[in-house]
Amino acid sequence: MTYKTLNVDVDSDGIALVTIDVPGKSMNVWDADLMQDFANWVDAFLADENVKGAVITSGKASGFLAGADLNMLGSGGAGGAPTSKKEQFESAFTLNSVFRKLETGGQPVKALQKGEAFAKPVAAAVNGLALGGGLEIVLACHHRVVADNPKIQLGVPEVQVGLLPGAGGTQRLPRLAGLQNAAMLATQGKPIDPATAKAQGIVQDVVPADQVVAKAKEWVKANPKAVQPWDKKGFKFPGGGGAMDPRAVQFFIGANAMAQKETNHNYPAIQYILSCLYEGSIVPMDTAIRIESKYFLKLLSSAQTRNMIRTLFINKQAAEKGEQRPKDVPASELKKVGVLGAGMMGAGIAYVTAKGGAEVVLLDRDLEYAQKGKGYSEKIVEKGVSRGKVTKEKGDELLARITPTTDYDDLKDVDLIIEAVFEDPDVKADVIKRTEAVIGKDVIFASNTSTLPITGLAIHSERPDQFIGIHFFSPVDKMPLVEIIPGEKSGDKALATALDYVRLIKKTPIVVKDTRGFYTNRVVPPYLNEAMLMVAEGIKPALIENAAKSLGMPVGPLALTDETSLELGLRIMNSTKKELGKDYKPSGVEDLLVKMVEDLGRKGRKSGGGFYEYPEGGKKHLWQGLSEYFPVSKDQPSLEEAKERLLYAQLIPASQCYAEGIVHDPQSADLGAIFGWGFAPWTGGPMSHIDTIGVDAFVRKAESLAQKYGARFNPPEKFRDMAKAGDKLYGKAA
Ligand code: NAI
Repeated sequence: MTYKTLNVDVDSDGIALVTIDVPGKSMNVWDADLMQDFANWVDAFLADENVKGAVITSGKASGFLAGADLNMLGSGGAGGAPTSKKEQFESAFTLNSVFRKLETGGQPVKALQKGEAFAKPVAAAVNGLALGGGLEIVLACHHRVVADNPKIQLGVPEVQVGLLPGAGGTQRLPRLAGLQNAAMLATQGKPIDPATAKAQGIVQDVVPADQVVAKAKEWVKANPKAVQPWDKKGFKFPGGGGAMDPRAVQFFIGANAMAQKETNHNYPAIQYILSCLYEGSIVPMDTAIRIESKYFLKLLSSAQTRNMIRTLFINKQAAEKGEQRPKDVPASELKKVGVLGAGMMGAGIAYVTAKGGAEVVLLDRDLEYAQKGKGYSEKIVEKGVSRGKVTKEKGDELLARITPTTDYDDLKDVDLIIEAVFEDPDVKADVIKRTEAVIGKDVIFASNTSTLPITGLAIHSERPDQFIGIHFFSPVDKMPLVEIIPGEKSGDKALATALDYVRLIKKTPIVVKDTRGFYTNRVVPPYLNEAMLMVAEGIKPALIENAAKSLGMPVGPLALTDETSLELGLRIMNSTKKELGKDYKPSGVEDLLVKMVEDLGRKGRKSGGGFYEYPEGGKKHLWQGLSEYFPVSKDQPSLEEAKERLLYAQLIPASQCYAEGIVHDPQSADLGAIFGWGFAPWTGGPMSHIDTIGVDAFVRKAESLAQKYGARFNPPEKFRDMAKAGDKLYGKAA
């Protein structure tokens, strides 16, 4: 038999070497072809008396197998979307049933338990990363050999896109490593290295890379009669399991409480994983894997999981691969990048650029400042080396790529400029002129301005078609999103180069329109304002912060305001007032900002405190003095009301940005929200969330909030029209 995705080679001892090699893919994944081939091979293997056992390995240098093809899962599973519940279950159960057949040899479990029958031995020879369904096939083998390389990742990361390991992972992991280890692996989704996997009992052998296949074959030869431990009589979970074992009971009480505390009931996958572990631990394997498939299917058919897969995986990857890039512009070679301004942003930009492999000329007006900017990278590298995250050699190489300077001549052979000097149009204009005088005629000039329109800055450029905005977030080395802002005259080459650069530094780009605040800075201020208005109304600050966290925001809006600083908020308010004159519409937080910043000196975290206190060496806590100036009112909203208000304070401006074309598509709006300001990832982003609740329900809720709190909650006209027409943001496929 021949296969599209497998090479099967039987040696003179009758041992089949099965090499997984999915054609046309740089990494093996479970797609429809591999699933079909593997099922066929298992049948052929079990039927062929001349084949005594098998070793499964990968033909890719990139790794063993990276899990399921999420594009396939997102579209309803292998072979298209099944219709009836039964068909859906069978589809979700496909790999479970094939793996089970392989590990039992198709023999009845009773016969295995009595020692009357055995499976043909199968060993895994793991030569690179094995994640999700890639690790699950390994677990279904009777013996597991892994290459001795600490960089190899073994894990079940499905939870990160709202799923659970659905090919036996929630059942075999606890039977090998105990409930606690299995729960850690599956609910956090973080991979472990081969040595840890061996210590936990997940794999048996860690050997030099060139010996994995030989060692696996050796085991198969020496063990002609294989039975999994859980198919033997008297099997017990390592560390205890089942409903009556006090250790397991204790574990489930603690694990459940902890998981819900951390995730605020927003991630059903975590709860289902714990349910799989619990329910699966009180029944035999054949029932356990059916329970797992039941929960897997529940997740797979939920809008929430589909949203998460779409935004956090499919659309993120598409954006990173350059979906928005003009196709006919040849790829740019960015070997050397000039970074102008070595302050907070420039220093971070220099670091991520050098980390991406390019040389950096880091220019400031004073050498001391430029060197200080490089010092930022030195600190990160030092920390990385001391924690074993990067070798000293690699760290030194990275630092050697950054050259601090004050001399514009050093920019003469750069391939790209990123400007991050003071947010002052005159300073920027001067820097643009001086830089363009030395750089090559076709070099793209990008500005990291956060408020100045790109089209306005491009006026100072001799080559406005080569001028563009690349807007980073602070801290640059941690924040994953970058906004790309073409000005009116920016050409395709500028856009293509900006996207090539973002790819080099491995961040997620969205392309946005050239308007004040671009996308994220149009949404975040109204959200933070809403929280401050709530304080001014007398709503308890703790309620506000907890409501946001309960929504799934990483930090509360008052803590975030402290981070970005109340002083900056006041400055922006004053400059907007000046700029708009009579047209300025008060936001209602003017008095609060003046009181906090000017009267009380509570400017934010960096200035010693704002809404929070930051005791040295201690944990931050809400400032008790606040209620003296903004008394807590007797009437407090319910948690649900507070959550709704904070949610819509983000949904409304985000939908306005989409309606006004500031973000061109729902995909970018969702990516920008989750990766730009931490919008609740479980929703898949604000546009996905609006689709899930229904555009009509969103419009009605927004209108009722507008009646209660003010016109700022009114939904954009476009959304009213969409509601009337019954349209969705993501079209019918969503
Ligand atoms: P910063 O004040 O920390 O750094 C600015 C640096 O530019 C200083 O080191 C200064 O010496 C240098 N500089 C000033 N004039 C210069 C000149 N003529 N030639 C060379 N160097 C000069 O400011 P920060 O926060 O790094 O901001 C820089 C830019 O990034 C601004 O346009 C800002 O709006 C933008 N931005 C800031 C964000 C933030 O969170 N701070 C976020 C996104 C963008």
